[in-house]
Amino acid sequence: MGSIDAPIENGSAPALGGGGKHLSSGNGPLPPAEESAGSQQVSTPENEESRRRKGGVLPLEVGTRVMCRWRDGKYHPVKVIERRRMQNGGPNDYEYYVHYTEFNRRLDEWVKLEQLDLDSVETVVDEKVEDKVTSLKMTRHQKRKIDETHVEGHEELDAASLREHEEFTKVKNIATIELGRYEIETWYFSPFPPEYNDSLKLYFCEFCLTFMKRKEQLQRHMRKCDLKHPPGDEIYRSGTLSMFEVDGKKNKVYGQNLCYLAKLFLDHKTLYYDVDLFLFYVLCECDDRGCHMVGYFSKEKHSEESYNLACILTLPPYQRKGYGKFLIAFSYELSKKEGKVGTPERPLSDLGLLSYRGYWTRVLLDILKKHKGNISIKELSDMTAIKAEDILSTLQGLELIQYRKGQHVICADPKVLDRHLKAAGRGGLEVDVSKLIWTPYKEQS
Ligand code: ACO
Ligand code: ZN
Repeated sequence: MGSIDAPIENGSAPALGGGGKHLSSGNGPLPPAEESAGSQQVSTPENEESRRRKGGVLPLEVGTRVMCRWRDGKYHPVKVIERRRMQNGGPNDYEYYVHYTEFNRRLDEWVKLEQLDLDSVETVVDEKVEDKVTSLKMTRHQKRKIDETHVEGHEELDAASLREHEEFTKVKNIATIELGRYEIETWYFSPFPPEYNDSLKLYFCEFCLTFMKRKEQLQRHMRKCDLKHPPGDEIYRSGTLSMFEVDGKKNKVYGQNLCYLAKLFLDHKTLYYDVDLFLFYVLCECDDRGCHMVGYFSKEKHSEESYNLACILTLPPYQRKGYGKFLIAFSYELSKKEGKVGTPERPLSDLGLLSYRGYWTRVLLDILKKHKGNISIKELSDMTAIKAEDILSTLQGLELIQYRKGQHVICADPKVLDRHLKAAGRGGLEVDVSKLIWTPYKEQS
């Protein structure tokens, strides 16, 4: 399994960077603190020597490595990504945008000087990225170049592409968004049109996903907007859960708005400008005020690589409630109806990989538990629409493939299976296939 560099909580909301707060409840409590291998308490005795040293290193250069006090009250190693002068400050009064080197980039943030332990400054400054990216618009070919390199941490991403990507997206542009009842902290950079880049907060219409810079604009918009659910066809309804299929070609602006929004929570995904080529499956919780988006996944209308899902997102306020596994299960139900096997587009994020591993493990081991006699990977693939490679890697990861008498066999000791199933977490929300009314996409002439 790839490295997971963000502390991940076992409880409800995502450990970090995410969570949404109800607008009415003001600032919610911070997520619980997590122990981390590299964290340490640092005492900073303010003697003459250390004061002189500190004066000498300021302002810190971009690339400097230093210890920084995080929201858990402990010091963690960071790298300075960017700096900016404080308004009305002296020549050394800067704020620093830092990356916690042990954690995922979604935790990068602006910090004040007093959070940094200047005694721990490492004087070697990383090489600056020379080749600045001047244009965001990557061609599809360039995008593929990045995506085809399967990344589980970032370690396998082609070094130059990764550097380019990180240089261009290094500082989060939008800090929070308002969407329906929630105010949500963002995780990553998203390439909104330049006129939005001077606003820290954006206001989204929760139905048509139009975004605005000011609350009053949103209020005015809400009086006029007559959508109460995503555009497109409702293809699934079970209780209060509905799924809408939105064709990017028929609803271009909606598709683009959704991509801008989603990119705030997806790191290594290049924004698609050609939304025409995609279908968007938008999951909603419905009540008497309308259908409120919980999450979505996108799917290429035609995929040469047998991808059945391009991007998946559960909005942070709804995470860890089983919606992610529901979306994944839904994508495989669509593949079954198409009579194809499918696999998610790579790279998978840390949370994406966890969710997929959990889903694959549960589905495959449930079958192995019930099945009498031998079963092959091909048969498992036919039953589940999971691509053979993903089945093999899941079973190998669980050490359930053994080499006996010259051939590979799946070991299905019930006790071992039960142990793995327990570790795979909860099953997630069930897709009731009888409630799915859908036919595969056909190009209309
Ligand atoms: N900490 C620990 N485990 C986690 C966490 C977390 N913060 N989030 C998910 N998991 C694991 C758990 O095993 C969880 O099962 P469990 O709750 O039974 O233990 C499992 O993943 C899935 O949980 P769900 O509640 O079904 O999934 P969720 O609704 O939280 O959505 C998703 C998962 C979509 C990956 C979400 O975390 C997300 O939107 N992340 C940001 C965007 C992203 O990374 N998308 C995937 C990119 S890859 C691609 O698009 C192909
Ligand atoms: Zn609207």
